[in-house]
Amino acid sequence: MSKTDTNQKKIQAIRGMNDLLPEQSPLWQYFEGQVRALMGRYGYDEIRTPVVEQTALFKRSIGEVTDIVEKEMYTFDDRNGDSLTLRPEGTASCVRAAMEHGLLHNQTQRLWYQGPMFRHERPQKGRYRQFHQIGVETFGLEGPDIDAEVILLSARLWQQLGLDKHVTLELNSLGSMDARAAYRDLLVAYFERHAEVLDEDSKRRLGSNPMRILDSKNPAMAEVIEGAPKLMDHLDEASREHFERLCAMLDAAGIAYVINPRLVRGLDYYGRTVFEWTTTALGSQGTVCAGGRYDGLVEQLGGKPTPAVGFALGIERLILLLETLELVPAEARGALDVYLLPMDEAATGPALLLGERLREALPELRAQLHCGGGSFKSRMKKADKSGARLALLLGEDELAEGSVTLKFLREEREQQRLPRAALVDTLTSLLNGESLA
Ligand code: HAM
Repeated sequence: MSKTDTNQKKIQAIRGMNDLLPEQSPLWQYFEGQVRALMGRYGYDEIRTPVVEQTALFKRSIGEVTDIVEKEMYTFDDRNGDSLTLRPEGTASCVRAAMEHGLLHNQTQRLWYQGPMFRHERPQKGRYRQFHQIGVETFGLEGPDIDAEVILLSARLWQQLGLDKHVTLELNSLGSMDARAAYRDLLVAYFERHAEVLDEDSKRRLGSNPMRILDSKNPAMAEVIEGAPKLMDHLDEASREHFERLCAMLDAAGIAYVINPRLVRGLDYYGRTVFEWTTTALGSQGTVCAGGRYDGLVEQLGGKPTPAVGFALGIERLILLLETLELVPAEARGALDVYLLPMDEAATGPALLLGERLREALPELRAQLHCGGGSFKSRMKKADKSGARLALLLGEDELAEGSVTLKFLREEREQQRLPRAALVDTLTSLLNGESLA
């Protein structure tokens, strides 16, 4: 073997694509569990679609002149020469699947999904190349009541997670296609009058997607953007009424919001309502959830006109937020309740069986069996390292008298020896937080 063979560099994960390690997974499971339960409570059904789609699907829905399509898609030719793309978001796939399987024929749908999305962005805290979204998409419902419902659903999630005081709802209306086209002309005329202030990106957008200039974070352009005509002042009558009714519903439900006339979103399919939930606790990647109405998309992809509204949240950002604000509940830490500790070879079989009995009697119990032998000292060390609250010790004496020794690993409390027959009751009381006699 040559030297270069033995010195080969270790293969590492792709930049911006993260492993989810065992210590992190309990929090993800807790988060996903909360969302799944919530979707059921609102009557939303899960849909799962492939992570790869034909490239044309994203170009036609997200828009050719968007950052996602221009710069961020993972696109490749497969072995048949077809252009495929790793999905950068879930809405387009959801619409494609709903159309393909006839879910939109004379019926309404309330769907949700979860999974990895892929965008070739510059990785930083809260921004990754593979990230995970949970999204909802509703179809066939035109009124602002469904816009209000999806917003209330997300608000309930923040409340459940203890995040409601830490996120702000930003809201805007983009109006109808016609109103937007008229506004676009106004905006182009305005920015052309201030062309000397525009940066290169914005000059390019002037011809293709002038509303995205409003999104620019360039401080040199802040003043000009501030003075630009506001879409809100040029809405068509029907969109204005839709928006006013939505605001009234949110007011009645006690949901606070800020109307942000510069909120335009980075995907082309939106019209009327758009919204984002933002936080100041995560630095520049502060949008934890975003969405809006996209009444034209189904038709644009070859279906019948179908009103639609939805949103997607970024799981990584919400997990970061829970950690940053120290809002991770004990149940999301995944700690063991019990470490089953046979003290010698003879106790191993009985400890294994005791574990099975306990799992039958207490389905919620999280118990781990000590395997692999070792000295008394190393066994105790492993028990401590397991993170369990209690150790159940089985040695020669316990075997002889049918008992078990219960040792508290995290509290200053006397250990106790008790009959094995009393163990289930004792553990039940302990796990329910009752003090023992
Ligand atoms: P989006 O704003 O592109 O919308 O993404 C939604 C959320 O996904 C963002 O607010 C953020 O929390 C998260 N996210 C986006 N990119 C990244 C990234 N690179 N790293 C980490 N998190 C990220 C959509 O995707 C639309 N499909 C939402 C929608 C559904 N609209 C209607 N229905």
